Amino acid sequence: MAEKPWDGRFAEKTDAAVEAFTSSIDIDKRLYQYDINGSIAHCKMLARASIITDEESESLIDGLEKIREEIHAGSFEFSDRLEDIHMHIENRLAVHVGSVSRKLHTARSRNDQVALDIRLYLRDMSRKIIYGLAHLRKILVEMAGRNIDVVLPGYTHLQRAQPVLFSHHLMAYYEMFTRDTRRFEEGLQRINVMPLGAAALAGTTYPIDRAYTASLLDFPKISENSMDSVSDRDFIIEFLAAASLCMVHFSRFSEELVLWSSSEFKFIELSDAFSTGSSIMPQKKNPDVPELVRGKTGRVFGSLISLLTLMKSLPLAYNRDMQEDKSPVFDAVETLTACIDIYIRMLPNIKVNQFEMEAAVSTGFLNATDMADYLVCRGMPFREAHACVGKAVSYGLDHKKELHELSLDALRTFSDLINEDIFSELTTRQMIDRRQSYGGTSTDNVSAAIARADKQVTREIKSMTDQ
Ligand code: ARG
Repeated sequence: MAEKPWDGRFAEKTDAAVEAFTSSIDIDKRLYQYDINGSIAHCKMLARASIITDEESESLIDGLEKIREEIHAGSFEFSDRLEDIHMHIENRLAVHVGSVSRKLHTARSRNDQVALDIRLYLRDMSRKIIYGLAHLRKILVEMAGRNIDVVLPGYTHLQRAQPVLFSHHLMAYYEMFTRDTRRFEEGLQRINVMPLGAAALAGTTYPIDRAYTASLLDFPKISENSMDSVSDRDFIIEFLAAASLCMVHFSRFSEELVLWSSSEFKFIELSDAFSTGSSIMPQKKNPDVPELVRGKTGRVFGSLISLLTLMKSLPLAYNRDMQEDKSPVFDAVETLTACIDIYIRMLPNIKVNQFEMEAAVSTGFLNATDMADYLVCRGMPFREAHACVGKAVSYGLDHKKELHELSLDALRTFSDLINEDIFSELTTRQMIDRRQSYGGTSTDNVSAAIARADKQVTREIKSMTDQ
């Protein structure tokens, strides 16, 4: 039997260098489960539409299952001569089921086949990522709940700004990862469309039943236009955009963990099990895990840019260029899932240095805004209050004293609206708990946000594990 399915038209053998250059088997072999599942559904549909007989379909399915076992067991032989996973499986089928193997590809092309495989793969991976992110969100909620008493400086421009609850800071990441989750969920709706039946590009002359194939593979929709079916990779680009943004969030979080674990901040300590040492400096304990997460972000952005560039000038319909979509997608999926997994393990092991965080809140005039608000409450217009406190800060800087360390007499030189109650008004706890505007850092607000998030994410995890 001719090895290549398209041998018929060719007088010369393919050059070995061309085989090596065009082969994608090393990369796309990881699609084998999806390819086999798609082929099995295709066989069942062909039999139901009486395009092949039931016996032929059963024999093909038997052979496909044997190949699944061989690949799973590692005994399957891969070779550049057979280009890709689709041709490997079809070729091997002849060994198991004989000449009937040549009927598998009826009413199908590798163009719609590969579109199906990548959709099946990304559907699984999106669900895996959504599930992983749900666990991470749950861990953030638990961490926020445990640390509800912990206060740290909130920063703008990386300058101490106002005190916030550490839980509030953590819940900001909960919001980011929840948005990421929603993006993957929305993308899933466009991934979950069945392209098979488009054949090479124009559809097929056989009386196929695309809706049946879709129902076998659990697709809620079938694609509308055969040319678009084989040339659409938007769903991959959307997936990579969602993955890139998710990595932005991991990278920002990682940057904070790196800063916070430095001697300059000392806000947290990563457990020994999640740190590494230096080969030369015995004292070092390095935050390599968050550093690497931050560093891996670029790979995922790279995948997104690769796919955008790959697709931007392709005429309809399928072009071989599109084979280059797989390596960036696999790399992005592996990178993102590895980052989610390591965060799930690392976060619960972080030691929070409450004392250091609180000490940082007490210096740097973090109560200046609240002192201005104090004056506003007693009748001074805000801009005037701002200027007045600015002078008090400048005085404090000259005398190496924080605002709450100045005497009442000294404070009253800036405004006679200031009274003894200023001191109780400027405590950290007061500053936190006065911020009751919805979404602000008051303990009540943050506790309510944690309770809402906990309910939400617990429900999401339950509905995913029930499925
Ligand atoms: N390996 C190819 C890919 O990944 C499969 C489709 C090949 N189609 C073709 N007409 N050569 O895109």
